[in-house]
Amino acid sequence: MKAKILVSRSVFPEVIARLDEHFEVDYQGEDVPLPPAQLAARLAGKQGALTMISDRVDATTLAGAPDLKAVCNVAVGYNNLDLEALTRAGVMATNTPGVLDDTTADIVWALIMSSARHVVAADKWVRAGQWKGWKFHDNWLGNDVHHATLGILGMGRIGQAVARRAAGFEMRVIYHNRSRLSEADEKSCKAQWVDKEALLRQADFLVLMLPYSAANHHAIGKGELALMKPSAHLINVARGGIVDDQALIEALQQNQIAGAGLDVFENEPALDKRFFELDNVVLTPHIGSSSRATRLGMAMLAADNLIAALSGQRPPNLLNPEAINA
Ligand code: GLV
Repeated sequence: MKAKILVSRSVFPEVIARLDEHFEVDYQGEDVPLPPAQLAARLAGKQGALTMISDRVDATTLAGAPDLKAVCNVAVGYNNLDLEALTRAGVMATNTPGVLDDTTADIVWALIMSSARHVVAADKWVRAGQWKGWKFHDNWLGNDVHHATLGILGMGRIGQAVARRAAGFEMRVIYHNRSRLSEADEKSCKAQWVDKEALLRQADFLVLMLPYSAANHHAIGKGELALMKPSAHLINVARGGIVDDQALIEALQQNQIAGAGLDVFENEPALDKRFFELDNVVLTPHIGSSSRATRLGMAMLAADNLIAALSGQRPPNLLNPEAINA
């Protein structure tokens, strides 16, 4: 008899076809999240689930799903999963590292370039018919990216992919991470470790690549923003909550920093409306990994994890090995 699984929201048909070969699939085919009570109800009687970052899975969600063996998140970040609760319940949890590194690093660069050179605000201005004649001086003067200092907070795989791209712009790259990279990795990224304060003070472009955790909540707040150069840009494609949005809005309103490029927000998608009034911020709707190939790769990797987990193998991206013996 096939194991029963839930796919919590719309994915590609190829992924469903692959899962169908192995499982009896309960497919919630809309691209909207299930309300928490419905998610819990649909997990009842299931052995596995393919979940998204919009699904909160915690002790309450798990209470009515005693048969559950694996929850496979289609994302590298997994702060939507209560890992301790999953482990206590003996449920394996997996994520999708690696497949999205380059795509996510690419969008960091899209935001760096857009923020530095006013691409979005200038586009809006042109479309509004405000371009009356070419100007030399009063003409969307931006900041140079080439030869500037790129600062990366959180130097995992994506941070390193961001750093490697900086070579083309002949930038100086500095980073801060709890643990330093090996000498070989620092060399391949041409990146130098500095303490957090030096990173904040020296970066022309500060890129956040930290996972969200209670310890990283508001890692960038009023105090940190105050240390940044007035000409600096802040780029966040990691997670909302790493930045104190209220403090950032105030810093942008007062031109305390030059700009920001943001793909993630506190309380997204209900972001603080004051962002909409600012011309010195570029806003994208959490699309860091959103190329077709990468989103398909992520969903296929999550499916591979689920297939392995429910056929008695160790899933390749197991986050909580302790769950196996719980
Ligand atoms: C997306 O936000 C991810 O964590 O993969």
